[in-house]
Amino acid sequence: MEKEKKTLLSGIQPSGDLHLGNYLGAIKNWKELCDQFDCYWFMADMHTITVRQEPAELRRRTLTQIATYIACGLDPEKNTIFVQSHVPAHAELGWVLDCYTMFGELSRMTQFKDKSARNADNINAGLFTYPCLMAADILLYQPDFVPVGEDQKQHVEICRDIANRFNHVYGEVFRVPEPYIPKTGARVMGLSAPENKMSKSVPEGCVFLMEKPEDIMRKFKRAVTDSDTERWVRYDPETKPGVSNLMSIYAAVTGKTYEDIEREFDGKGYGAFKPAVGEAVVELLRPIREETERLLADKAYLESVYRAGAEKASYAANKTLRKVYKKVGFLPR
Ligand code: TYM
Repeated sequence: MEKEKKTLLSGIQPSGDLHLGNYLGAIKNWKELCDQFDCYWFMADMHTITVRQEPAELRRRTLTQIATYIACGLDPEKNTIFVQSHVPAHAELGWVLDCYTMFGELSRMTQFKDKSARNADNINAGLFTYPCLMAADILLYQPDFVPVGEDQKQHVEICRDIANRFNHVYGEVFRVPEPYIPKTGARVMGLSAPENKMSKSVPEGCVFLMEKPEDIMRKFKRAVTDSDTERWVRYDPETKPGVSNLMSIYAAVTGKTYEDIEREFDGKGYGAFKPAVGEAVVELLRPIREETERLLADKAYLESVYRAGAEKASYAANKTLRKVYKKVGFLPR
């Protein structure tokens, strides 16, 4: 029976503390899907070193991320939770896929263009070939779907191109996965600058999952709303990007529709709306924060989770890697 389940896989880079964009764009969606699928969720630590990291901080964030996955409802008994660098097959397949990916297609990746503009003194080869490692992360597990936020869609698409190219030469080695983007929360914008996506690099506009309630409330109260003369709550991302972003957060958190929200705040204006969104987010995050803290106090348990996860993941990944090595003509050991 188990084998008839379809497979899902996704990961997050522990390059910063997890934030509301990661939760609404990714983890929340994972949790809703995880009962119907065979799931692999990992910490994409190898991707983080494309930008310089402080080693002790990277270790701390990786462990915290494992605890948060579990606190968000991903049950390690039913899901495979692991750390990317614990499964060497990622790097091994990554190299093979480097050789099946073109310079031109990597040059067109939006994330590469953005990150190389922001880190002009460190445009390293890893930053450039990052999508090949991400394709390896995915293809090793033969998933049907990859649930990600909107900004990762281009990377899943290049992964499909690489898989199709490889399959075209060697037969059906890889399952070609589909991106799976949530209906609400796929692109949470920053609270201080709603024209850019919420990201840890702009901390004043970013709500971190482990943040204190008073800090979260302050960020929402200060959220940039729109300077139009109409001061009420109406969904229109073109002319009202700030309020529309808050509405999409409120919708994703409460399950309400935009019409419900417009009705709820009819005649009340932004002054009432902003703290209401803040409160909804505080209540959403409170149990996650408390459970993450509780789990972080039990390092032995977290270790047992990631050790078991690495073993399960390695088993699945090595099966695919062996097939690939055979196809390309490497002599079996
Ligand atoms: P990363 O670590 O930047 O983000 C992790 C997930 O969070 C989503 N996300 C957002 N969603 C909505 N609004 C936002 N403001 C927002 N910010 C981030 C992302 O879309 C993503 O789903 N390359 C990936 C990590 C990765 C991966 C993989 C993902 C490595 N290998 C294999 C899937 C499969 C990344 O940098 O995501």
